[in-house]
Amino acid sequence: MNPCLFLLFSLLLLLVTKTASQLGGDYRNGVTNKCLHKERLDLLLFKASLHDPNDTLSTWRSDEHDCCNWKGVTCNNQTCHVIGLDISGSSLGGEINNSLLNLTYLNHLDLSRNSFHGIIPSFIGSMTRLRYLNLSYNSFHRTIPLEFGNLTNLQWLYLGSVGSYRVDNLEWLSHLSHLEELQMDEISLAKQNHWVDVTLSLRKLSLLSLKGCELS
Ligand SMILES: *[C@@H]1O[C@H](CO)[C@@H](O)[C@H](O)[C@H]1NC(C)=O
Ligand SMILES: *[C@@H]1O[C@H](CO)[C@@H](O)[C@H](O)[C@H]1NC(C)=O
Ligand SMILES: *[C@@H]1O[C@H](CO)[C@@H](O)[C@H](O)[C@H]1NC(C)=O
Ligand SMILES: *[C@@H]1O[C@H](CO)[C@@H](O)[C@H](O)[C@H]1NC(C)=O
Ligand SMILES: *[C@@H]1O[C@H](CO)[C@@H](O)[C@H](O)[C@H]1NC(C)=O
Ligand SMILES: *[C@@H]1O[C@H](CO)[C@@H](O)[C@H](O)[C@H]1NC(C)=O
Repeated sequence: MNPCLFLLFSLLLLLVTKTASQLGGDYRNGVTNKCLHKERLDLLLFKASLHDPNDTLSTWRSDEHDCCNWKGVTCNNQTCHVIGLDISGSSLGGEINNSLLNLTYLNHLDLSRNSFHGIIPSFIGSMTRLRYLNLSYNSFHRTIPLEFGNLTNLQWLYLGSVGSYRVDNLEWLSHLSHLEELQMDEISLAKQNHWVDVTLSLRKLSLLSLKGCELS
């Protein structure tokens, strides 16, 4: 090929590729706009209440249509519903917006290693599809919402170093009969005497970590 013609051809190819990728970045793996419109709005609303100093969620943009490609978002590859959210270690703070409740198929939520403070929102207890919940290494305070007793599908619960926490009543835990792993390091259990009975009642439990829980 004539070198000049080759150069022209290459430039043209580059232009076409670039335009295609600008047309939304939503043509990946041969799938266009996998993400459900409503769930994309729920995620954007959730992001709007967050404080994200390092711009970790920069891919979460209204002009980036396929939210299944956003950082930390996992979708079911058949129904396209958002089923997982892992935004751990992202220096995030601010409000945890209850728009998460509208992601009704979410079964995996990891908000660990961030800078969330205040109380753990009790609406998390209404996310009853959750099988995995990790809130460890944050700066929450006060006590675990009793509503967590509604999370009856939970198999993995990690609340270690969740902040400055104490648990006065562990009754909610006895409802989580599918729990396989429970980690509550650094949460004070000093004020309640039934932790042995409660954990013994969790028949599927195979991992229990209660370091620094001031057990009595
Ligand atoms: C869908 O995801 C599952 C695992 O989550 C995987 O095993 C399966 O191969 C995927 N199917 C398609 C069509 O990508
Ligand atoms: C976020 O930024 C701060 C300072 O700007 C830095 O110390 C920290 O390591 C960053 N965190 C992440 C997860 O990149
Ligand atoms: C969630 O976001 C909406 C809209 O920004 C706001 O009105 C609402 O108060 C927020 N809820 C929480 C729990 O932060
Ligand atoms: C959840 O979805 C409903 C229906 O679209 C909407 O009216 C409501 O504002 C949403 N709630 C939140 C908290 O995003
Ligand atoms: C929960 O989060 C912490 C902090 O990010 C991490 O070290 C731990 O491995 C997580 N637990 C599981 C089982 O994913
Ligand atoms: C969740 O738990 C709280 C406190 O245990 C209870 O009052 C509430 O009715 C429960 N909500 C649902 C939806 O089950």
